[in-house]
Amino acid sequence: MSILNETYTLNNEITIPKLAFGTWQIPNGSVAYESTLFALKSGYRHIDTALVYGNEESVGKAIVDSGIAREDIFLTTKLPAEIKTYDGALEAFETSIKNLGVEYVDLYIIHAPWPWSDKGGDYTEGNIEAWKALEAIYETGRAKAIGVSNFAVKDLEAILESGTIVPAVNQIRFFIGSTQEEITQFSQSKDILIEAYSPLATGQILDDANVQKIAEKYGVTVAQVCIRYTIQRGTVSLPKSTHEEYILQNADVDFVIDDEDMAFLNELVSNA
Ligand code: A2P
Repeated sequence: MSILNETYTLNNEITIPKLAFGTWQIPNGSVAYESTLFALKSGYRHIDTALVYGNEESVGKAIVDSGIAREDIFLTTKLPAEIKTYDGALEAFETSIKNLGVEYVDLYIIHAPWPWSDKGGDYTEGNIEAWKALEAIYETGRAKAIGVSNFAVKDLEAILESGTIVPAVNQIRFFIGSTQEEITQFSQSKDILIEAYSPLATGQILDDANVQKIAEKYGVTVAQVCIRYTIQRGTVSLPKSTHEEYILQNADVDFVIDDEDMAFLNELVSNA
């Protein structure tokens, strides 16, 4: 079976494809439109965007123009990190739905526990407020699942304590040599699926000699090892590319990294 057809089951029983097409840093307009459309035509059924990426309109248009039934596509978007009020979150959701031109999203997530301008700041109360709004959206059925991104253990604990719904996912920066073990293990212990963004370390891992060695052994590219690794770690993999060749290559990962090589990759430490 192709990786494109493989799924996980979220903690609310919704299925989610293991491989997603990530759209971070893909500019709105023809580039986002063409690359998303190409990914969908190539068999990707999971698209990840965010209001702050500024490309929801093009991504949504590609979804409509693909002719693929809406229910056959898993679509994620995100609440901007700086919005930490209940009403602000409801409003931002409406904006995303309008931009995307869809009736619902499959997954709506809080983009980060703090605004990017104050990374690491304590916004616990704001996150609880935003989470209440996501719960309300979930109750309407316009988000089939809700989750978080970039949440540390303490941020997750606050939501677990005060919310009524356990986040379905925690989307974090996760790649060979940088797997945020404490967050990963805590999330997984609470049945919160880890989604791996930047599985290629935004390209910085591609000349890593250790990973190259593994790639040669399996007769694949470094990017393919990186993506396969994230999937074998039980995460959703979200590689981003605007090149057709890479979009195809990144979905061609139906090989298995053996236990010994996984152990080797698990020990690597990346500076990226
Ligand atoms: P591009 O977008 O120009 O196609 P990440 O997914 O970790 O954020 O990494 C994205 C970066 O890796 C982008 O610069 C992207 O290039 C590049 N990239 C994506 N897939 C591949 C691939 N299969 N081989 C080489 N580079 C890739």
